[in-house]
Amino acid sequence: MIDAKRMARYDRIYQQLQELIEGRSPGLIAAMATTCALLHAKMPHHSWTGFYLLAENGELHVGPYQGPVACQMLRDKGVCLHAARTRQPVVVPDVHAFPGHVACDPRSQSEIVVPLIKEGDVRGVLDIDAHKPGQFDEDDIPPLERILSLLDPYL
Ligand code: SME
Repeated sequence: MIDAKRMARYDRIYQQLQELIEGRSPGLIAAMATTCALLHAKMPHHSWTGFYLLAENGELHVGPYQGPVACQMLRDKGVCLHAARTRQPVVVPDVHAFPGHVACDPRSQSEIVVPLIKEGDVRGVLDIDAHKPGQFDEDDIPPLERILSLLDPYL
């Protein structure tokens, strides 16, 4: 269960992003950069907030993000690739318990990944890390998917 405060924050972030992105962002990268800047700034538990984009060779290449320098390329394993391959969001309360987790930041303890899907194809993922365990649960998925829907016209 996420608390009411976080839910209210998601609502405010959605409304602000709607004003910033809808009909205003010049393209996908600008819309993604704006999304992760706001999400990262307004959610104190986020240690890293960003996007990976699916490349033609099946790798994930880093896109706009906020936080410490991250892995530029993900292949073969990891939470992000798992979400991209299954086309399903993944909540990881303890990253050490996820086989193949890629530790770009060794301080990361929990993580959530939500795929970006356009016409049935995965285009990339939103990845969020936290330095404390158990910072995300299933209730984070619908508000994050709502926020990501603002990127649909740009995918
Ligand atoms: N932990 C991710 C890698 C990306 S970083 O967290 C920014 C994974 O296992 O795919």
